[in-house]
Amino acid sequence: MNVFSIGASRNIGYHAARRLLAKGATVTFLLRSTSVFDNNQEIQAHIRAGTARLVKGDALKAEDGAKDGTIDLVIFTVGGLPSFQMTKGFLVNPPNLCAQSFLNLVITMPASLRRPSAQPRFIAVSSIGLSHAAHAELPLLLKPLYGYALHQPHADKLAMEWVIAHCAGWEWAHETPTGILSADWTSLPGLPAFGELEHVVGIRAALLTSGACKADKKKNGKVPYRQKDCELGDGYTISREDVAHYFVEGLMLHWDQWEGKWAHIAYWMTIRKDLEPTDRL
Ligand SMILES: NC(=O)c1ccc[n+]([C@@H]2O[C@H](COP(=O)([O-])OP(=O)(O)OC[C@H]3O[C@@H](n4cnc5c(N)ncnc54)[C@H](OP(=O)(O)O)[C@@H]3O)[C@@H](O)[C@H]2O)c1
Repeated sequence: MNVFSIGASRNIGYHAARRLLAKGATVTFLLRSTSVFDNNQEIQAHIRAGTARLVKGDALKAEDGAKDGTIDLVIFTVGGLPSFQMTKGFLVNPPNLCAQSFLNLVITMPASLRRPSAQPRFIAVSSIGLSHAAHAELPLLLKPLYGYALHQPHADKLAMEWVIAHCAGWEWAHETPTGILSADWTSLPGLPAFGELEHVVGIRAALLTSGACKADKKKNGKVPYRQKDCELGDGYTISREDVAHYFVEGLMLHWDQWEGKWAHIAYWMTIRKDLEPTDRL
């Protein structure tokens, strides 16, 4: 399997890439700094074996995203390191990072990857609680953080979701994000037609933590997280390692069940008896 990964220098994208490499996939990393893995012996071994390819590029520059050959899977986990301003909350620079990067990814897809028989699968990471309707469904304690403090990065992600919905042919039932995308983005040259991308799964992750992968420690086949194609309502957190685990050990193995959907993912709440983990991979 050939994987093209954008945003895999660290965290979810990186953990997913490591898992896929370990399973024999070839992963092409689009990286702003190709020295990021210089001291990473695991990735260096894959580079020597020819299964990890590091390509220098900036997702914000459409011309950097050159994709050649066969691609079976695209993983998009671009995100910014936010600064904090008391009056504005967390700010990512530029404010359209995710939406523009995803737009660049799809407008530069070569014709060879647009043919239905050759289209890759796409996994793109977004967040819970972005739209007004999704915010209303958030667990109570997340509402203040997701309402005020993350307003700007979430507007960017909502705009990215709009682009994803267009490409995948999903109805856009949310408010229209303003000030992130150019007014004429739907007529950009190269933009896939509505519904042209046939194999898309969007991930709406709960608040991300950096703990170890809990799923790897489970010996009974049960996983400590759950995923649903609608708001979870009471899912607070999920670790980046466990999201990556879900990509490789859950989603990829059950793709048909999730294709064309948003998968909302969070840890099980163990204080409620009815939410005991029961699903198996
Ligand atoms: N924090 C939360 O609670 C939360 C919840 C749900 C979803 N999310 C979102 O989920 C996504 C993944 O999060 P994460 O924590 O796994 O990753 P992350 O730490 O946000 O890393 C993002 C990746 O994007 C890359 N990147 C940023 N700008 C780029 C550019 N212009 N060109 C190419 N690559 C670029 C970074 O590479 P560099 O090494 O070049 O910086 C890094 O590899 C993000 O969008 C995040 O905002 C976050």
